Amino acid sequence: MKLVVLLASVVAAQGQTPIRPSYDSAKANANHIFNAIHSTGRQWGSSLNHNGFGFIPVVVPAGISLYHGGYFEQPPEGPEWLAFEVEHAENFARVPKGGPRGCRPCRDEQLHSLSSEQKPLDQAGIDGCDCEVEGRVRGYLQTYQTTRNVQLLYLDGTSAGKSPVGTLDSQDEVLCQSNSSRWDDMGGEMYRAKALCDLITEWGWDGIMRMEIGFEVIYCNFSSGLNLDSSIRTLVPEDRLEDDFSLIPYLWSRAATERYDGLGGDRIQMDFSSMVSGFFFPINISNTDPDRPDLIRLGAAQREHLLDIKNYIQTLFVEPRKFIVNWQAVVDMIIARFGNRLAAMASASVSTDLFIGELEGTVLTYLEAPSLPGDVTLAEDDDGRNRTAEAIDRCASHYLKPALLSQQDWTLSDSLIHTALGTVTQHICSDLYFMRSILLQASPDAAPDAYLIKRGVKSADMEEAVNQTRTIVRDLMQDLAWTTWKKPQLCVEGQILLTAMWPLGDSVDHFNPGCVPAQDITGRRRNYWTPYEKRPRID
Ligand SMILES: *[C@@H]1O[C@H](CO)[C@@H](O)[C@H](O)[C@H]1NC(C)=O
Ligand SMILES: *[C@@H]1O[C@H](CO)[C@@H](O)[C@H](O)[C@H]1NC(C)=O
Ligand SMILES: *[C@@H]1O[C@H](CO)[C@@H](O)[C@H](O)[C@H]1NC(C)=O
Ligand SMILES: *[C@@H]1O[C@H](CO)[C@@H](O)[C@H](O)[C@H]1NC(C)=O
Ligand SMILES: *[C@@H]1O[C@H](CO)[C@@H](O)[C@H](O)[C@H]1NC(C)=O
Repeated sequence: MKLVVLLASVVAAQGQTPIRPSYDSAKANANHIFNAIHSTGRQWGSSLNHNGFGFIPVVVPAGISLYHGGYFEQPPEGPEWLAFEVEHAENFARVPKGGPRGCRPCRDEQLHSLSSEQKPLDQAGIDGCDCEVEGRVRGYLQTYQTTRNVQLLYLDGTSAGKSPVGTLDSQDEVLCQSNSSRWDDMGGEMYRAKALCDLITEWGWDGIMRMEIGFEVIYCNFSSGLNLDSSIRTLVPEDRLEDDFSLIPYLWSRAATERYDGLGGDRIQMDFSSMVSGFFFPINISNTDPDRPDLIRLGAAQREHLLDIKNYIQTLFVEPRKFIVNWQAVVDMIIARFGNRLAAMASASVSTDLFIGELEGTVLTYLEAPSLPGDVTLAEDDDGRNRTAEAIDRCASHYLKPALLSQQDWTLSDSLIHTALGTVTQHICSDLYFMRSILLQASPDAAPDAYLIKRGVKSADMEEAVNQTRTIVRDLMQDLAWTTWKKPQLCVEGQILLTAMWPLGDSVDHFNPGCVPAQDITGRRRNYWTPYEKRPRID
């Protein structure tokens, strides 16, 4: 805290006001914030959007298993690495066949030997690495269990990717405040681990959670919060039935792919209410690499701004965890509602009828139909109402409502995230109602506020209107850039994976579920259930 005050006074002396999180930035970066929250703790989106901007406190509860591979039977002191998947750690518990006898390789050398273009770093003296030892080197797979709530700082994106493209910016440029050009010379991973641990143990935290091909933790003190469950000596390659290591990349990759949609096993709790993101700040994150203008990065921001962000993080992260709103759950609900609909509407292979059906299926939910003469129910006074504006409002706010329950307890992070997600839903919903208005205008003899778009009308006007609105959907999807759309789907657009779900479903859907096109899913598709309806109940 003293440091913060000191730095703040230095900045003040220079007459510069430090930058602060702002609602304007949350709006400007709304899609990035939305996607970052969706990808937190998930291998898929965090691999695609590999340059992280987020700093999220997470808790690993007591009783969770974590793995460490190495060349020692006893636990290291730390900082050292723990993996969430056993395959990840096993990679470091293997002794390379014909490897130099009597030489204990360091973890970092192992890491760097995976990518041939990176030269191994000289770690001698840092990690007990010693090439003078006599005898055979053995590998050990250590399994730990957390003994309490373990507090980690999660850095999102592929923040364990030792790559200069921007994956390390949240560490090297913000937390460690070093020069990006020098990260390689400064001792690489062990240096980084020590520097990060120095920083976060001061706040009373246990480690840093990051992701590469698999999630991992830089754990600062192995004597605290962990119980060594087992330390298993691994076989030497000569004793294995299959001593060829060529399958390791495949087995390791598959273990990581199992976590595309989340770590699973209730292994982490994410405190979005304490999240800090570079996207909350008014900074310029345009990549300076002309070959990859898409690759935004924290490191592109001005050095003083990155220091301001670090200072903000320090003031926030000494506070206790909050866990007020699980914003990832909110994001998931929004994607589940709109993701596949937008993808279907964007697809040229989907018929005009299905396109209109998908659109109306979304927008009419929130739209109150005008009253008609002869309505049995009492009609309200409709004068002066803009039903479309009301519907857009309902549509945009719907999935954010559960979070509002705790609004009086919200942190600034909660409010900023709410602003960002609301900007995204507003964009989606206003585009959808705008699309509907284009189709309505193209409907023959449509009344000015016609309720339904006429179906089955094969007019060139309508086809052109669908083409025009399809362009709007495609532009919308490009802006939203949901990583779910990059994932190959089991069924093409306009089809769904169907199993018999009472009251619908044919026998084939129960015994051999598969992809079924929209037009085949009718109310008559229920021959799995019908034979049983004639039988008496067995009580
Ligand atoms: C960055 O590196 C340059 C050259 O080594 C040095 O002069 C400068 O002080 C460094 N800046 C920071 C913030 O460490
Ligand atoms: C590590 O944790 C143990 C147990 O809490 C503590 O006694 C020790 O001082 C810690 N080590 C460091 C370097 O903080
Ligand atoms: C952001 O940085 C890029 C690359 O340095 C530059 O081209 C652009 O003009 C900057 N934008 C703003 C708003 O400063
Ligand atoms: C109703 O609201 C929509 C969406 O905000 C807007 O496009 C439209 O012009 C409004 N209509 C009237 C009559 O004000
Ligand atoms: C609509 O788009 C399709 C596919 O791009 C094209 O073949 C068709 O001619 C377009 N129809 C109109 C009326 O623009």
